[in-house]
Amino acid sequence: MARHLITSALPYINGIKHLGNMVGSMLPADVYARYLRQRGHEVLYICATDEHGTPAELAAKEQGVPVGEFCASAHDAQKAVYDGFALAFDYFGRSSSPQNTEITQHFARRLNENGFIEERAIRQVYSPADGRFLPDRYVEGTCPHCGYDKARGDQCENCTRVLDPTDLIEPRSAISGSTDLEVRETKHLFLLQSKLQHEVEEWVARHEEEWPQLAASIARKWLNEGLHDRAITRDLDWGVPVPADTWPDLAAEGKVFYVWFDAPIEYIGATKEWADQDPENRDWKSWWYDADDTVRYTEFMAKDNVPFHTVMFPATELGVREPWKKVDYVKAFNWLTYYGGKFSTSQKRGVFTDQALDILPADYWRYFLIANAPESDDSSFTWEHFTATVNKDLADTLGNFVNRVLSFSKKRFGEAVPAGGEPGEAETRLGTEIATLLAEYEAQMEALQFRKAAAALRALWSAGNSYLEEKAPWLEIKTDKDGAALTLRTAMNLIHLYAVVSEPFIPGTAAAMRQAFSLEEDTATWITPDEARALTTVAAGTPFTVPPVLFAKLTDDDLDAYKERFGGEPQPA
Ligand code: MF3
Ligand code: ZN
Repeated sequence: MARHLITSALPYINGIKHLGNMVGSMLPADVYARYLRQRGHEVLYICATDEHGTPAELAAKEQGVPVGEFCASAHDAQKAVYDGFALAFDYFGRSSSPQNTEITQHFARRLNENGFIEERAIRQVYSPADGRFLPDRYVEGTCPHCGYDKARGDQCENCTRVLDPTDLIEPRSAISGSTDLEVRETKHLFLLQSKLQHEVEEWVARHEEEWPQLAASIARKWLNEGLHDRAITRDLDWGVPVPADTWPDLAAEGKVFYVWFDAPIEYIGATKEWADQDPENRDWKSWWYDADDTVRYTEFMAKDNVPFHTVMFPATELGVREPWKKVDYVKAFNWLTYYGGKFSTSQKRGVFTDQALDILPADYWRYFLIANAPESDDSSFTWEHFTATVNKDLADTLGNFVNRVLSFSKKRFGEAVPAGGEPGEAETRLGTEIATLLAEYEAQMEALQFRKAAAALRALWSAGNSYLEEKAPWLEIKTDKDGAALTLRTAMNLIHLYAVVSEPFIPGTAAAMRQAFSLEEDTATWITPDEARALTTVAAGTPFTVPPVLFAKLTDDDLDAYKERFGGEPQPA
């Protein structure tokens, strides 16, 4: 029994996420959290919307609503989709919460006291027409590298180079379009990451061996390039305010912290949001403070987020000089592509999570995505692969097994698990095989190897099919009624086992399978090796019902319709 803290990268507030976002952070985190809970661990799975920054301000402006209102409704819209995907967060918070403001300001004060924050004057684009400084995306213009004329102040979408607003040629305000821009001097807070380089290096060195190669190599690359001091404030209305007690001048100018400073702190902030809902029974600090020996912390994210989580946020935590919990294990993912091309929120290419749920229930997506997670490499989503996987693994191997066994038994023996004779050689062999596969499945889950875990789960389902084909109870019953009853009782125990061990992947279907049997005790707790070998947990006489078809088979017409709606053509990478 251990305490497991789990977080998945906080989704940006603007826009519903696509399947690539889902498989690279929230979904695997949920699968892992569900697994650990079932194994009896104490688990806290925290996520939140990442609400600050220029994208949120600009999206609100485009819709003509105040940014606070925009974020509140965008948060609810995302939460509804995640509920639809059956993501069992312990809490899904908001980085704009008062809790995050408080902790972010505390971190900044402490960093300042410890000599890791400095006020520096920098030259920034100012727009007299708008009466404000124009940070990041608030300036548009021509890219000095490739000549693209809609480059944004933070990055050129065309050549992907990172830019500073002052780099742009013929800059204009993204708010008013005004080209009457000047460069003025203004003060900002800088986080002196260079002073923390050495400590971060030591800390990474203590952890990287345990991390997956993807996370470790990205962390190394950033450390080798050297940590640079960076501006952690912006001239925006929307963000965590710079605290006036420490920086009265900057606070008076309305400066706020940069979104990447307060976002990771929201992992802690959201935990406090969770605790504040039930303060008598929930203790947020025990998860985050002085928790090195008592909590294991696992983070899930796509690879573009790795530098922030392995280097920058740990640097912040180290500089605070208080015992805040740092990540133990970083699970990083490559990209899921759509027919080999990029999923793109801005270009609306690929499948979005709300559209996915419109088409099919969550379990179809959950299983497919995790079984094909971009773990060791990028992986490609195609409708052909998706429909084939659903039909083969979910409809044929699992769904059909469950339905065949229960319907046939009901027809021949009525609505209770039949008794039959003593287990024979086939049952002993099956029990050994199931116990071995279950151990493999557990080992892969413990190692956070999701594709391999999915393969082991699929093998468990297949073993049931092989057993059923071998025993063929529909023939057996003609000559040996007791034998057929034994086969069916054993197969029903497999269904029960599937219900338990498939829960992390397909929780809705798992519940339907479990509820087929009227069992008294809480059968959602994990299967022991002995139970797997014996396959007698569900006793003869237990009443059962036949659930509706668990997975519909997808037809060629379905496939054509999906491709028609979403476009199923290969994209240039
Ligand atoms: N919103 C960021 C993204 O989608 C992730 C933020 S993760 C956090 O890339 F740790 F900073 F919160
Ligand atoms: Zn460019």
